[in-house]
Amino acid sequence: MKAIILKEAGSVDKLEAAELPIPVINDQEVLIQTKAISINPVDIKTRTGKSLYSELRSQNPFIILGWDVSGIVAESGPTVTKFKQGDEVFGMINFPGHGKAYAEYAVAPAEHLASKPANITHEEAAAATLAALTAWQALVTNAKVIKGQKVVIQAASGGVGHYAVQIAKWLGANVIATSSSANRDFVMSLGADEHIDYKKHRIDTIVTDADFVLDPIGGDNIDPSLNAVKKGGTVIMLPSFFKDEIIAKAEAKGVNGYFFTVRSNGADMQQLATLLEKGFVRSHLSKKFSLDEMKEAHLQIESGRTQGKIVVTL
Ligand SMILES: NC(=O)c1ccc[n+]([C@@H]2O[C@H](COP(=O)([O-])OP(=O)(O)OC[C@H]3O[C@@H](n4cnc5c(N)ncnc54)[C@H](OP(=O)(O)O)[C@@H]3O)[C@@H](O)[C@H]2O)c1
Repeated sequence: MKAIILKEAGSVDKLEAAELPIPVINDQEVLIQTKAISINPVDIKTRTGKSLYSELRSQNPFIILGWDVSGIVAESGPTVTKFKQGDEVFGMINFPGHGKAYAEYAVAPAEHLASKPANITHEEAAAATLAALTAWQALVTNAKVIKGQKVVIQAASGGVGHYAVQIAKWLGANVIATSSSANRDFVMSLGADEHIDYKKHRIDTIVTDADFVLDPIGGDNIDPSLNAVKKGGTVIMLPSFFKDEIIAKAEAKGVNGYFFTVRSNGADMQQLATLLEKGFVRSHLSKKFSLDEMKEAHLQIESGRTQGKIVVTL
């Protein structure tokens, strides 16, 4: 099978095409013939030697990047009851671990997958995996957002943000979304109630009483995020900078502030599948690439300016 491998960290030129044997599954796993893969900032961080690079490279002769897959079940292990050959499935495989999604075939524990809704494409399904699960686990599992709450979604035009706006609206929240002015119409079309152009305004000059803030930016943005939430509210930060110092700052303000890492979870995927099937959540695909164009796909995510998601189609 064709795969894209990484032997050492570096620029996009380190992504190499390779011919590998089709992987072998164990009893609880599913072999997926990959139809679409989505690309995330963690792919770029790992490729450049950050994030999961050291751990994965120390255990393997090379890394196969990628965690987000939609495809067709080619084979299922003997103890797998939920999926059989020919079924369409999607999910985020083995995160945070070795996903090995950049390949014509991928192996997934059955418990990381959900059935792909018949009324969405493999591209739309592949997109709604790591980014959508992050939004789900932040808003539903962790923050437990409820109807009527004031929720700020930052970087609302990006992969995580565009799902977070839609999920927050489905939960019945009042959603304030941040992006540049170029993406204002896009985030409002997702259902946001208000828009803040982060290039013109710090959010805490406009909002100081939110119940929940999702901060996918970090760094200098963390203070404004902590100030935008009311006492007793929650801020979830996605990039993991200076953990202890920031958690202490949040505590001093009476705010529940923490970092969070998304985890593979088939039950959560199934909830997302229902929202996708019913049209409460849609994947916005701003660009599509082929497997041979993986370098271009990485450069697009690396730009930090992606609208919605990009996918690689096989
Ligand atoms: N902890 C976890 O488990 C976890 C999971 C998923 C993602 N993440 C992290 O979360 C971050 C976002 O991921 P993603 O997939 O959403 O990235 P992405 O799709 O690449 O985000 C791109 C978007 O970010 C917007 N943006 C950039 N700077 C901004 C700012 N200062 N304020 C508001 N919007 C801004 C851009 O909008 P404009 O073009 O309008 O500026 C663009 O649309 C990444 O660092 C990623 O690694 C962490």
